[in-house]
Amino acid sequence: TQPLRLGIAGLGTVGMGVIRIMQNHGAMLAARAGRPVQVVAVSARATGKDRGLPLDGYAWETDPVALARRSDIDVFVEVMGGSEGPARDATLAALEAGKDVVSANKALLAIHGNEIAAKAEAAGRVLRFEAAVAGGIPVIKALTEGLAGNQITRVMGVMNGSCNYILTRMESAGLTYEEVFEEARALGYLEADPQLDVGGIDAGHKLSLLSAIAFGSKVDFPAVELEGIGAITIEDIRHAADMGYRIKLLGVAQLSGRGLEQRMTPCLVPAASPLGQLEGGTNMVVLEGDAVGQIVLRGAGAGSGPTASAVMSDVIDIARGTRLPTFGIPATSLVAQPAARSAVP
Ligand code: HSE
Repeated sequence: TQPLRLGIAGLGTVGMGVIRIMQNHGAMLAARAGRPVQVVAVSARATGKDRGLPLDGYAWETDPVALARRSDIDVFVEVMGGSEGPARDATLAALEAGKDVVSANKALLAIHGNEIAAKAEAAGRVLRFEAAVAGGIPVIKALTEGLAGNQITRVMGVMNGSCNYILTRMESAGLTYEEVFEEARALGYLEADPQLDVGGIDAGHKLSLLSAIAFGSKVDFPAVELEGIGAITIEDIRHAADMGYRIKLLGVAQLSGRGLEQRMTPCLVPAASPLGQLEGGTNMVVLEGDAVGQIVLRGAGAGSGPTASAVMSDVIDIARGTRLPTFGIPATSLVAQPAARSAVP
């Protein structure tokens, strides 16, 4: 059997997590994939740096576009991030060069996903992005596979661990938003542009992707009503607690009488509910289907191992020959606005 050959663009936290899994579990992955899976080439800006694992067996590129076009790779794994520039150029170049793509890039897909998915499908290529939403939680596979027999009625959740860390730490330590923000930044919990986290933008990107899959609609990030956590005070948190609630940056996508509603805003959730019990930097996604009822998924939404775990699930799917469309149904079938529901059950 032919091995599946990967090119990994980005050797940061996630890229090195993927390499670690590949180096530790080669035989297990090959058994599950039905064929060997190999890293053949990588790209990163800094070539000399010690990243803690042997990398000398791989071909190196400094330009991800050059990596994407290499004739010796089958799958381009994009774990660099950024909605424009090299990540976008390299993803498009990979599809043009006939590669399948595994992406962890929520911002790129939230902003350019319709166009990129259409391009992938027109070229007969596969584009998968389990790692882009809620890190290690296999929420995309839950929606596209496990719940494929359901009409999804609502998707909601906490999809930014940094914001959940800030809110729960304000509560437990009695610190102000500004104090915990600085602490989170010092600990490296925030994106390079922290506004992506605390402004709700990163979580909004993720919600817009889940919404497209759940409701068969085009990705419509501009339609997400967004409000971040910057205005939340300790008093707000205390008053909520007095009434049995906690404040969470909650994403909700649902079909109502007004059509598809998507919002990512601070919400009061009952302290005793699953969402109300979510602590620290964790994520939780709640899925509701007309046949199954409610499913609750909780886990690490970021970090090396969890995010790499999600990347590998897509790699193995591709190795097995699964040809699922990017958003579960063909990009050409996604509607601009799903029909309103007359009655939400
Ligand atoms: N900043 C993101 C978070 C990283 O805190 O959830 C994972 O997407």
